[in-house]
Amino acid sequence: QTGYVTLDSGYKNTGATKSAITFLDGEEGILRYRGYPIEQLAEKSSFLEVAYLLIYGALPSKAELDEFSHQITKHTLVHEDVRKIFDGFPSAAHPMAILSSLICSLTAFYPKSIDPNQSAEEMNLNILRLMAKISTIAAWTYKNSQGHPLNYPRNDLDYTSNFLYMMFSFPTEKYDINPVVVSALNKLLILHADHEQNCSTSTVRLVGSANASLYGSVSAGINALWGPLHGGANQEVVEMLEAIQADGGDTSKFIAKAKDKNDPFRLMGFGHRVYKNFDPRAKIIKKAADEVLTALGINDPLLKIAQELEQAALTDPYFVDRKLYPNVDFYSGIIYKAIGIPTEMFTVMFALGRLPGWIAQWKEMRENKEPIGRPRQIYTGELERDYVSIENR
Ligand code: SDX
Repeated sequence: QTGYVTLDSGYKNTGATKSAITFLDGEEGILRYRGYPIEQLAEKSSFLEVAYLLIYGALPSKAELDEFSHQITKHTLVHEDVRKIFDGFPSAAHPMAILSSLICSLTAFYPKSIDPNQSAEEMNLNILRLMAKISTIAAWTYKNSQGHPLNYPRNDLDYTSNFLYMMFSFPTEKYDINPVVVSALNKLLILHADHEQNCSTSTVRLVGSANASLYGSVSAGINALWGPLHGGANQEVVEMLEAIQADGGDTSKFIAKAKDKNDPFRLMGFGHRVYKNFDPRAKIIKKAADEVLTALGINDPLLKIAQELEQAALTDPYFVDRKLYPNVDFYSGIIYKAIGIPTEMFTVMFALGRLPGWIAQWKEMRENKEPIGRPRQIYTGELERDYVSIENR
């Protein structure tokens, strides 16, 4: 081994890059996108406005936002050959598997997106195409899993309403857009839009640093997000709450399991690498969960189980000593469920929300001409030894 290497598994103390996009303070529980507090954006902004802010660095004027929204609406239709690819997927295929492969396949339809020296205009066109087409492809993964006819996007609907329409409408009947659902989804997408150098964003940057295309880099990020320790946790949380409910609702039994080092069970939706305080997004989502269920007249017993778990963990030394608080995934599934999104689509929803962050971080890495990512290691293998012919083994 030549030269010094500092081992930092999990990159717990490694700054991999400089970035001007998102600011996190884990001790204080602060999250800001381009300097704007997440609490204000969640209340006052729209998902496309936040996407514009993250990608281009400033809040858009009305004209800029209208043009950005119009361009995205224009690109929501996908090539018919993409629709035909769905015929090759079994309905049992997990939506995240289909999403990552179809997003990567967009390079086949837009070959210039592979060129690392593409013009700024071409890069921006690929950004608009990706923002638009992921919503159509994501909705189609759900329809494909249900054996339902795919719904084409509509240009008379805003981004969030169009997604809900493609997810839940049927050609055979009128679909009414519920403003409570649109507002709840808009808020969730904003809260997931970026989060500094998390696992999937670091994956997008690392793959992109090899001059891989935006579509290929985001496809890699989708697979990293799918991991149950990362974005896959939102699906695990609701499955955990359902298991507690099926088991009779005794939360103390599951708190004990989470503390038992011999038991692989973890309290999903709890803990965070950076936040050693409340995840500010969890606070907003918890409040929104109450509001949405009340507005929709839904009484979901899982919400009560989640609140009991949270209360128990916040007073238990095991969790307090380790500074384990609810994270973004703890309550989000309660809202997704209330607006009719099935658990196997929860991480797809996370990807939909996180896409502008992935795009912004990939774009910043490219514009800063960052070098290819290539970490070193501490070698712990065999010292030099000679080959042994098979007769002598
Ligand atoms: C996301 O990075 C991001 O920003 C991610 C994200 C984003 O927006 O991109 O915020 C989204 O991924 C949120 C996290 C979703 N994951 C989960 O909810 C899965 C459950 N949480 C954990 O697996 C864990 O807390 C992590 C993965 C989130 C963080 O892991 P770390 O920082 O590597 O911490 P660790 O595993 O070393 O845990 C420290 C201690 C350990 O105990 P000891 O060895 O000290 O005795 O805390 C324990 C862990 O066993 N612990 C838990 C626990 N989380 C940590 N014990 C029980 N239940 C848990 N949930």
